[in-house]
Amino acid sequence: MLFCVDSIRWGVESIKREVIDIESGQPLIEFKGVSKSYSPKEPPALHDVNIKIYKGDFVFVVGSSGAGKSTFAKLIMREETPNTGEIIVNGYKLAQMKKREVPYLRRTMGIVFQDFRLIQNMNVFDNVAFTLRVVGASRQQIRRKVSHALALVGLGQKARNFPQELSGGEQQRVGLARALVNNPSLIIADEPTGNVDPELSYEIVDLLTEINRRGTTVVMVTHDHQLVRDYARRVIMLENGSIVADNAEGVV
Ligand SMILES: Nc1ncnc2c1ncn2[C@@H]1O[C@H](COP(=O)(O)OP(=O)(O)OP(=O)(O)O)[C@@H](O)[C@H]1O
Ligand SMILES: [Mg+2]
Repeated sequence: MLFCVDSIRWGVESIKREVIDIESGQPLIEFKGVSKSYSPKEPPALHDVNIKIYKGDFVFVVGSSGAGKSTFAKLIMREETPNTGEIIVNGYKLAQMKKREVPYLRRTMGIVFQDFRLIQNMNVFDNVAFTLRVVGASRQQIRRKVSHALALVGLGQKARNFPQELSGGEQQRVGLARALVNNPSLIIADEPTGNVDPELSYEIVDLLTEINRRGTTVVMVTHDHQLVRDYARRVIMLENGSIVADNAEGVV
């Protein structure tokens, strides 16, 4: 019962936050003077990062290996916490956030991994349905939402197949369906095309672009400069933990 009251309170809170965001033009993601060190002996993974990403943006994050791209993504998902600075995502102040509140933040975002992270002994439908089941959606809601997500990524015919029966590109499309099934306001994808054939990379980014066109903010980490040029979106470039460029229209 307590949990139930809690959920309603959080639901109302998040609607309020949404209204405040729209009215005030607040960024969906804001980093203020953020630094992150994994070890005092090493140079920081991120150093004094200041950035604003707005609702509806599509942002590529580029930079060489070790530049801090994954750290940036993990801070947004609150998989890591900063040593200094403030991070606000979807109206949540992450520094003050209690551990028990993290699931509420995560429900507002979809996460896509380089290595897909599908559950091998579950079919495509169940992989996509998994998070909906965790939050207690009804069978009818699950069927409707999963079918819609699979249709969007063009995998309606593969719902009963298992991950090992799919190509890399198809597996990543399942990863995308899973990320978008709960209609998140934000999708974070860390090298989603890293394990996919180059020609299929464009298929994945086309889908992300389509999801973005429908209103979801997308932050995508990538190594692929050609792809960034071709899509001509905002590009944040990290080097040694600092933002060295923030360009419009795919300039890398
Ligand atoms: N869990 C960790 N523990 C210690 N050091 C870490 C950890 N994760 C990352 N680092 C270090 O932080 C720095 C930034 O790492 P990060 O993973 O953010 O880079 P990246 O830009 O994503 O690189 P890549 O392109 O290779 O994925 C690197 O020097 C890395 O070794
Ligand atoms: Mg990385």
